[in-house]
Amino acid sequence: VDLRAYNSLGITERAEHLVEIHSDRELVAALDMAAEHAWPVTVLGGGSNVVVTGSLPGVVIIMRSRGRRVLRRAPDALLIEGEAGENWHDLVNWTLDLGLCGLENLSLIPGTLGAAPVQNIGAYGVELQDVFHSLDALDRVTGEIRQFDRAACHFGYRESVFKQSPGRYVILRVRLILRRHAQVRVDYAPLDTAWEATGLHRPDPRVVASLVCHIRQSKLPDPAVLGNAGSFFKNPLVTRHQLNALKALYPDIPHYLQPDGRYKVAAGWLIDQAGWKGVRAGHVGVHARQALVLVNHGGARGEDILSLAKRISDDVHARFGLELEMEPQRLG
Ligand code: EPU
Repeated sequence: VDLRAYNSLGITERAEHLVEIHSDRELVAALDMAAEHAWPVTVLGGGSNVVVTGSLPGVVIIMRSRGRRVLRRAPDALLIEGEAGENWHDLVNWTLDLGLCGLENLSLIPGTLGAAPVQNIGAYGVELQDVFHSLDALDRVTGEIRQFDRAACHFGYRESVFKQSPGRYVILRVRLILRRHAQVRVDYAPLDTAWEATGLHRPDPRVVASLVCHIRQSKLPDPAVLGNAGSFFKNPLVTRHQLNALKALYPDIPHYLQPDGRYKVAAGWLIDQAGWKGVRAGHVGVHARQALVLVNHGGARGEDILSLAKRISDDVHARFGLELEMEPQRLG
């Protein structure tokens, strides 16, 4: 089976077998079949955060379970639940239609609900963990369905226990707590500017969602048009001391104070400064409007993407002394 339609980078690689599952029962059946044949298993949602670098042996399971519901209503918040295969952006819109607040900053992130906790998706000052309640996952080691609360997920910046133990857990459904009373988070610079320009004084999550969509559409390539996996590197974390040394040389370096006292510096800015923005190398390249995004101009292999990524990170290391860590997961 050609995996091209199953990964947002649009890389053509083969899977030995591929099964789309729509329920827990179908998932268990697919896993049983894999166990019978001793096939390795790879589970994918939207495939929007992976680099496929070779053909995948065994079976690729695509999570297509659908359904979302309100589980509990409190005066100030609602507990909602959705199946792993729900499209993330559709879910965001559904919560906005319910008059709920909390997911507006996370509008238009590609992929599925079940994949969202794996890398603790985040954008414009909000991360999934801020609204996360719990999830159910199948533990492939014990065969049991286990509930994870927020602490058990070990969320970090684009990190979780699920990313740390690849292949062990299959996320089945996710629960989120969303507020009824509008409250907006517009502290992130470009969003703040856009919000100010609306002249609105009353918080309105729908307006924030549409501003976020606008900002994203202006910088980030649509995977349906130009294959990509969003940010290719994490923003590196530095100490106050390291930041001061960098600021002495590069006074404009964008940086963001973290709760632990360290600073995130903008990897996109480092790559842009190093002259990579818009550079094309054969089938792959660096996006012209956001240097943190690597793109497939058509016909790229996973290895092409990885070798461009390596050239970029080596160059950034030579210039700034900082290590760039790859953000998507490598498969194959
Ligand atoms: N910048 C440049 N040149 C570039 C790109 C960025 O100078 O080519 C500068 C910008 O001007 C800005 C700073 O770098 O001062 C940060 O850029 P931006 O606001 O675009 O955000 P980012 O740090 O590059 C992160 C997330 C995105 C998320 C945005 C908005 C990571 C790895 N990426 O990008 O997440 O949408 O912030 O919150 O943390 C993703 O994970 O796939 C993703 C798209």
